[in-house]
Amino acid sequence: MTTKTQKLFIKTYGCQMNVYDSARMVDALAPHGYVTTNILDEADLVLLNTCHIREKASEKVFSELGRLRKLRKTRAERGKATMIGIAGCVAQAEGEEIIERAPLVDLVFGPQSYHRLPDLVQRAKNQCVVDTDFPEEDKFDHLPQATKQATIARGLSAFLTVQEGCDKFCSFCVVPYTRGSEVSRPVARIVAEAKSLAEAGVREITLLGQNVNSYHGQDPNGVDTGLGPLLFELAEIEGLDRLRYTTSHPRDMDDELIAAHADLPELMPYLHLPVQSGSDTILKAMNRQHTAKHYLEIVDRIRTARPDIALSGDFIVGFPGETDADFADTLSLVRQVGYASAYSFKYSPRPGTPGASLEGQVEPHIASERLLELQKLIKELQHAFNGNCVGNTMDVLLEKPGRKPGQLAGRSPYLQAVHVDAEETMIGQIVPLRIKSAGQNSLYGEQLAKTHSTSDNRAQLARNLANQDGAPEV
Ligand code: SAH
Ligand code: SF4
Ligand code: F3S
Repeated sequence: MTTKTQKLFIKTYGCQMNVYDSARMVDALAPHGYVTTNILDEADLVLLNTCHIREKASEKVFSELGRLRKLRKTRAERGKATMIGIAGCVAQAEGEEIIERAPLVDLVFGPQSYHRLPDLVQRAKNQCVVDTDFPEEDKFDHLPQATKQATIARGLSAFLTVQEGCDKFCSFCVVPYTRGSEVSRPVARIVAEAKSLAEAGVREITLLGQNVNSYHGQDPNGVDTGLGPLLFELAEIEGLDRLRYTTSHPRDMDDELIAAHADLPELMPYLHLPVQSGSDTILKAMNRQHTAKHYLEIVDRIRTARPDIALSGDFIVGFPGETDADFADTLSLVRQVGYASAYSFKYSPRPGTPGASLEGQVEPHIASERLLELQKLIKELQHAFNGNCVGNTMDVLLEKPGRKPGQLAGRSPYLQAVHVDAEETMIGQIVPLRIKSAGQNSLYGEQLAKTHSTSDNRAQLARNLANQDGAPEV
């Protein structure tokens, strides 16, 4: 491949794993002379890292391709070639059909081919290339590590994929088809990657997986290791102060993982634990393989281990067969759990999934009404959670300049955005801040004259949450 400098523009859709993957694609192309640009018009290579989860997400790619058609034309008028590649889950799901629908695309490649990207780009200079195989070799063994410089530029908080794929086959979901079956990376590889992130100054790592808590990688003795023990091992790494993981499945919350929440101060007290619905009939139709009661019991166990834990979730409304009573069960579960935040979506029938051919598809206007109602409740809970933080002291990782001059922005242990008036030299520090006010999506904090210990803060917040009595009246 040529080493002449070429400009790469990469646009990422979808989940955090796509964010991680995009960074790895940049790392794979860097040794071949590609540098990233934020200016589309400069790009010799444009990559769209796509998401197939809902129809809207998928269709975004084709509207973007409409814009790229014009870009390619204007660049061609200046004598410049533009290569266009589609990566990610739409690429995996639709393969060649993408080129049939949008002939300007030069390259289509799925998530398991990223280690082959330099070669694919080279081949696509001569003819269209489609690579959506699930290869024998493990891409993680072949993807280069980020350079220290690249890691520093990406910030103090980093993603690290530990597990990919899904064997659960929820009846609404395309992920098992786009990402393939579950694969866990070996412990030693993850530890090595985490160490190199920490050496570059990263202070917080979020472990990623489509079902991250089904992680069962091998340790150097060939013994299967779960996510709980992996977290304990990563917590030993010098400089790594905060650990998080996402996304979890309720069925995989085992005792060791729950123990990590009790015993590991580095594991942040925030857990994204999607349930999708509060109705057992709908959970069954979704093939979630757990009931609402089972989910609530798990939440109780986690809260016993870590009383101040903040929970978030995902919900789908309007799944086929969902009645008003089923939806009321969802609202009731949301109130009972008292989420700190949650994401909710209108069901989108996806080609090839069992849900798409189920009877009893819900009228779009009914699904829209339910979505509005659910989102209103979630907003109220989030507002209450943020409001309860006012007056508390929280350790905040100061990550970057804030929106206003003289301000920095950081994250609380509960993943809330926090703004504070502070010197830029404090970026990278974890400092205790007294929370002065709360908005819908962020908090405003103030530096303390004297520092408080984290364990005191936890006890204080746990007391406040207990007084909140689960959830406010709505
Ligand atoms: N692996 C994660 C979720 C992956 S997708 C898990 O198991 O929870 C992220 C979220 O998108 C899902 O939790 C679900 O709420 C939503 N989602 C997935 N498929 C969908 C569909 N067909 N229509 C609407 N929302 C969907
Ligand atoms: Fe999709 Fe279900 Fe797998 Fe999550 S567990 S990725 S929702 S099939
Ligand atoms: Fe979307 Fe694929 Fe992630 S479908 S949510 S980008 S795993």
